[in-house]
Amino acid sequence: MGAAGRRRVLFLVALALVLAAAARVAAAGGGGGGGGEDKEEQAVLRMWSSDGGAEEGADHDQDDHFKWEEEDDDDDEEQEDDEEEGHITMLPGSGRTCRNVVNVDTFGAAGDGDADDTEAFSDAWKSACSLDNAVFLVPAGRRYKVGAIQFVGPCKERMIIQIQGTIVAPEEPSAWNPGSPRLWLLFSRLAGARIQGGGVIDGSGSKWWANSCKINKSNPCKAAPTAVTIDSCRGVRVKGLRVQNAQQMHVTVSRSRGVRLSGLRVEAPEDSPNTDGIHVADSTAVTIQGCRIGTGDDCVSIANGSFNVKMRDIDCGPGHGISIGSLGKGGAFAAVANVALDTATIRRAQNGVRIKTWQGGAGYVRNVRFANVAVDAVDRPIIIDQFYCDAPPGDRPCANRTSNVRVSGVAYRNITGTSRRAEAITFACSDAVPCTDIVLSDISLRRSEDGGGDDVQTVCNCAVGKDYGRVTPAADCLRSSTCAGKPDDDDEQGKADAILHTEL
Ligand SMILES: *[C@@H]1O[C@H](CO)[C@@H](O)[C@H](O)[C@H]1NC(C)=O
Ligand SMILES: *[C@@H]1O[C@H](CO)[C@@H](O)[C@H](O)[C@H]1NC(C)=O
Ligand SMILES: *[C@@H]1O[C@H](CO)[C@@H](O)[C@H](O)[C@H]1NC(C)=O
Ligand SMILES: *[C@@H]1O[C@H](CO)[C@@H](O)[C@H](O)[C@H]1NC(C)=O
Repeated sequence: MGAAGRRRVLFLVALALVLAAAARVAAAGGGGGGGGEDKEEQAVLRMWSSDGGAEEGADHDQDDHFKWEEEDDDDDEEQEDDEEEGHITMLPGSGRTCRNVVNVDTFGAAGDGDADDTEAFSDAWKSACSLDNAVFLVPAGRRYKVGAIQFVGPCKERMIIQIQGTIVAPEEPSAWNPGSPRLWLLFSRLAGARIQGGGVIDGSGSKWWANSCKINKSNPCKAAPTAVTIDSCRGVRVKGLRVQNAQQMHVTVSRSRGVRLSGLRVEAPEDSPNTDGIHVADSTAVTIQGCRIGTGDDCVSIANGSFNVKMRDIDCGPGHGISIGSLGKGGAFAAVANVALDTATIRRAQNGVRIKTWQGGAGYVRNVRFANVAVDAVDRPIIIDQFYCDAPPGDRPCANRTSNVRVSGVAYRNITGTSRRAEAITFACSDAVPCTDIVLSDISLRRSEDGGGDDVQTVCNCAVGKDYGRVTPAADCLRSSTCAGKPDDDDEQGKADAILHTEL
């Protein structure tokens, strides 16, 4: 290496150190020093208030579907993230970091894929949580069998959960406490933590799937665990992990704010029941970026109480597509607003971009934007379904009602590719509560080869809006909605079978 090369290396090392110091100051809330959890939380909240936070409840923005893009500050965050990771790749035992590494092996984890390492993980967590700058380390090259476990905060600042090896769940459903059937790995009440490391989280879900009432119709419908639950957290980042074969959902973000999921690979068999990839509920300012998801249910599902959800660079399929809902089950009030998907590929999926609500619900879905989506052999590339009905086997399908979740302000831009069905675009909106302000622009959908050679079409029921640019199939029905305005109660039974769907 020449002198110039050495200078360049020295310069880069110096730059890295400066950036690291700057990040530490930023995380401490502007150099105040001695900050506790409160400060961290404040910093995390501030981080979002210039972006997602400002939009919360900002109804005046409702008509401006494309505004988000300009306000995006994700790139800055990404830079900080990279620095953080550079830090961590030096582990363990780097002289340059002052991280407190807490290795699960030190607490007696066997890591042989057979012995139960739950207790070792719990003990290691207690220790890590109480230390500043802790790294909870799951070492590479080993397989840790861990049962249902809770990683609960608040912890000291700047916690990193570094998963480099594999965490695998016990296969037998009987290993679960029936009182808490929905959780496997729970991360709760953490602020500003990072969950990362390139490792694998494997739910060993096959026995749960076989027991599911969706697979074995003689079984009762029971909840199964979500592999990774991020609940009641602030500013948590989950990055670069593989989550596979979840018992039911793979990753859930609930009751949280400012959570960012990136570089996740989520995978389960196409026929595994209800194995949603990423599920968001009761959360604000959630970013999902650069994720590759293929499962037996929705790649991403966005449920009640979700606001300011951004998805970018999503690769989806197989599965049921990217969904908002289902919402309004059993007459419930539901609210979802400000959801944006920018750049996605959706392949061999039941749906492309979907909004689904139950008859009889209340509340709203508004200000949604789906842009730059390539679909390939997708059954229903664009769909709003306000007659959603996932009745358990044998149950009476759902009747039409006089109320529904109101859907308004939904924009679709640059959606291209192939549809397996003739109805490439479906706006099946409720007679009682029509969909309004639906905007289509630059849509180009054609029939997939395995869907036969026929033309594709747009089907509307009680949907109003406009289209501009090239829109194929044509969506004239948006401009000529002849909505009856009343559900037809008499005709319930005859058409009932047609609306029986079989998913969550
Ligand atoms: C379905 O579940 C029932 C009751 O749990 C069980 O007896 C039966 O063997 C299962 N069927 C299959 C095909 O696994
Ligand atoms: C949906 O979320 C709202 C808050 O956004 C809440 O008031 C309502 O109770 C939730 N509905 C259900 C069914 O959980
Ligand atoms: C349309 O979306 C596709 C798929 O994401 C993308 O490759 C393409 O660049 C987009 N076109 C425009 C004009 O943005
Ligand atoms: C509900 O209403 C829709 C739209 O008017 C109609 O197509 C469907 O057949 C109705 N379903 C039932 C069960 O009445």
